[in-house]
Amino acid sequence: MTEKLMQFQPAAFHTASPPSNRERLLCALSGRPTDRVPVWLMRQAGRYLPEYQAVRRHYAFLELCKTPDAAAEVSIQPLDAIGSDAVIIFNDILLPLEQAGALVEFDDHGPVIHNPVRQAGDLRNLAIRPVEPDEPVARTIRYVRERVGEDIPILGFAGSPWTLATYWVEGRASKHFSTIGALRYADPDMLMELLERITPVVAEYLKIQILAGADAVQIFDTWGGLLTPGEFATFSAPWMKRMIELLRADRRTAGTPIIVYANGAGNYLGQLAELGADCLSVDWRVELGEVCESLQIGSGEASPKSIQGNLDPLALLAGPDAVRRAVRQFFKVFPPRPGHVFNLGHGILPQTSPEAARALVEAVKQHGTY
Ligand code: CP3
Repeated sequence: MTEKLMQFQPAAFHTASPPSNRERLLCALSGRPTDRVPVWLMRQAGRYLPEYQAVRRHYAFLELCKTPDAAAEVSIQPLDAIGSDAVIIFNDILLPLEQAGALVEFDDHGPVIHNPVRQAGDLRNLAIRPVEPDEPVARTIRYVRERVGEDIPILGFAGSPWTLATYWVEGRASKHFSTIGALRYADPDMLMELLERITPVVAEYLKIQILAGADAVQIFDTWGGLLTPGEFATFSAPWMKRMIELLRADRRTAGTPIIVYANGAGNYLGQLAELGADCLSVDWRVELGEVCESLQIGSGEASPKSIQGNLDPLALLAGPDAVRRAVRQFFKVFPPRPGHVFNLGHGILPQTSPEAARALVEAVKQHGTY
């Protein structure tokens, strides 16, 4: 097409052919209208898929994350397996903690960090390794792009500094988070030092993902909900804000949409709106309509410009018919609109059936048009 003709090309959603999945997601994240609500699911690449299990049998979990060819393969699986509109890169939030000095491993029960930080001095002798542009995650993204082409959006991600700190302090997945809970009172300065250490490393980890071809990135603040609003304003929000500022300050990454996922965020939605993210992803315990109204999402002025969420992942355990009903009900309460990306309120559970996940995606595609 000549350049002149391109100028007269109307916006994708006015043409006869539908927008590509990539255009649709980018439109939705920036609050612009497209043809329907895009859909992808947190933890869509994982144990509930037999295809994933088949690959995983040949690798330990971390090894799989660090083998770009195989990680690309499992990243792509949900496109066919459930019809997802996007690829989220197969990786884990704990990987960049290795650059920050943590000794990370995964056993049968989940992550283990062999050098938990708990008192002043624990960080003193730990070296920080630079995040290289060619880390496995970046190579995985390039492989995915080669395989899916230009029309499928690729999402990169990282953990929030607070969520990563919880793992590093606890050393293991924890029910009560009592060690970091106590540290907040015993030695908040040490906690701040830890957050200060983690933040630039994870920001850099997002940067290399964007430079490798990620179309958007998501910051997972899975454990922010443990905090009081005042603590959130100290231990979580400012560090996510700093990550976002670091990406915005580099012209190569400034324009890439950033999604912040906040779990249990009902008490501090206002703080989340001030982070400078493009999209806010919330769990199922809040009403999307109320969140949009109170934060003025979709008004064209506010930041964030879009909202992502928020079906309860347990709905998927009720089987395909129940899921279809749940999606119809969802759109009755929160009708399809620009600036909404459909997702779960948290990650898909391992006991979910692929049929239920597929039924969810199909129902969103069917009922999410506007
Ligand atoms: O979303 C995707 O499909 C991409 C892959 C992805 C994984 N972890 C793969 C994974 C993503 C986005 C994550 C993020 C992640 N990792 C989070 C934040 C998201 C959330 O759910 O709140 C957290 C807290 C972690 C840390 C983590 N990784 C834990 C606590 C565990 C063990 C518990 C569990 O769910 O298994 C993991 C392991 C993990 N990460 C698996 C996968 C597919 C299972 C590993 C396996 O195959 O045995």
